[in-house]
Amino acid sequence: MQRAAARVLRGARTPPVRTPPVRTPPVRTPPVRARSASAGSAPRGLVYERHGEPPSVVQLKDLEVPNLGDSDVHVKMLAAPINPADINVIQGTYAILSPLPAVGGNEGVGEVLEVGGRVSALKPGDWVIPADTGLGTWRTRGVFPEEKLLKVPSDIPVLCAATLSVNPCTALRMLTDFETLAPGDSVIQNAANSGVGQAVIQIARASGVKTINVVRDRPDLPQLVERLMALGADHVVTEEMLRKPEMKEIFKSTPKPRLALNCVGGKSTTEMLRHLQPKGTMVTYGGMVKQPVMVPVSAFIFRDVRLRGFWMTQWRKDHAQDQESVAGMMDTLCQLIQRGQLTAPASTEVPLQDYRAALEASMKPFVSSKQILLF
Ligand SMILES: NC(=O)c1ccc[n+]([C@@H]2O[C@H](COP(=O)([O-])OP(=O)(O)OC[C@H]3O[C@@H](n4cnc5c(N)ncnc54)[C@H](OP(=O)(O)O)[C@@H]3O)[C@@H](O)[C@H]2O)c1
Repeated sequence: MQRAAARVLRGARTPPVRTPPVRTPPVRTPPVRARSASAGSAPRGLVYERHGEPPSVVQLKDLEVPNLGDSDVHVKMLAAPINPADINVIQGTYAILSPLPAVGGNEGVGEVLEVGGRVSALKPGDWVIPADTGLGTWRTRGVFPEEKLLKVPSDIPVLCAATLSVNPCTALRMLTDFETLAPGDSVIQNAANSGVGQAVIQIARASGVKTINVVRDRPDLPQLVERLMALGADHVVTEEMLRKPEMKEIFKSTPKPRLALNCVGGKSTTEMLRHLQPKGTMVTYGGMVKQPVMVPVSAFIFRDVRLRGFWMTQWRKDHAQDQESVAGMMDTLCQLIQRGQLTAPASTEVPLQDYRAALEASMKPFVSSKQILLF
């Protein structure tokens, strides 16, 4: 298949489903501080007061006008994606949950409106993204402690900045922290059309590492294959093809992978593992099929495969005092974006008031488009 130049892919826009704004009492966002942050009308946000299915428990509400402390930053949010982990947090099934009521969203980009007296690293007009999970990014404005924010260049596309802090960081860490890959080596991954998967394809491509990408079969498979090849994928196969002799063709031109990235679990993982090199590593970072990882005994005995796990939240905790590593990671990713080698995931931009349609779309299979809320 002909490889097209890397480009930003955008999914079809969802039809604008107009949901009337829900006017409910403002949610208190503690603590009360000395100076009032000013920026016109009251901020609004997507709030949940109990856990449950996001389209039914999330409501658009007025938020209390926050006060600005000396170490705080007043931020106008520009865009924020809906990620699977955000859904699981609202459902109450994720490993870390926010105290209720909570504003949804862990990722996004905002513009600094004003800063407290002791804030020195940020100024009005700067773009910031969350430094950690749990910020509650689905809101028009917010006041956040400076240490919860990371500055990013304001000349990168807004959708790249909005989707930078979770998936590209995860992709970069998994490609660098488990195996030392050289140009010409290969990686295999399932859910290759996920946000993480698209970042893996592009980052690997930029470093000369080949990717074997596994996706679920679907009616529009040829279009999906074309999109992933345009991003830089070397091979795209379906989960069923993993079991077929045709896989041998791939390994005539591409070495067996030293690294496998597992986002799915269950059968998909067992089949993918068959193609890993002896002593290779499989990193599990997602469990989309909600089934355990099953590994044949022979894979341990005769191929000595290594099974690892990765959680970006834990990496951030472990590196909280290591600002050099965090800055290095962000610099690497921003440079890839600035060079056009890392683009935003295929996405659908959704105005805030259409949040219900966006939440529903984010939970459907085969959508292949990240829902990104615009404020
Ligand atoms: N551990 C970490 O630090 C970390 C960091 C980032 C993300 N994650 C996890 O990685 C996963 C992907 O996140 P994302 O933001 O990249 O997701 P995303 O862009 O929303 O994509 C979801 C992916 O999952 C696939 N999928 C959904 N249900 C599936 C099933 N039953 N069987 C096989 N594939 C299925 C989808 O494929 P279809 O198109 O076929 O539906 C799609 O490729 C999530 O589980 C997320 O929580 C983990």
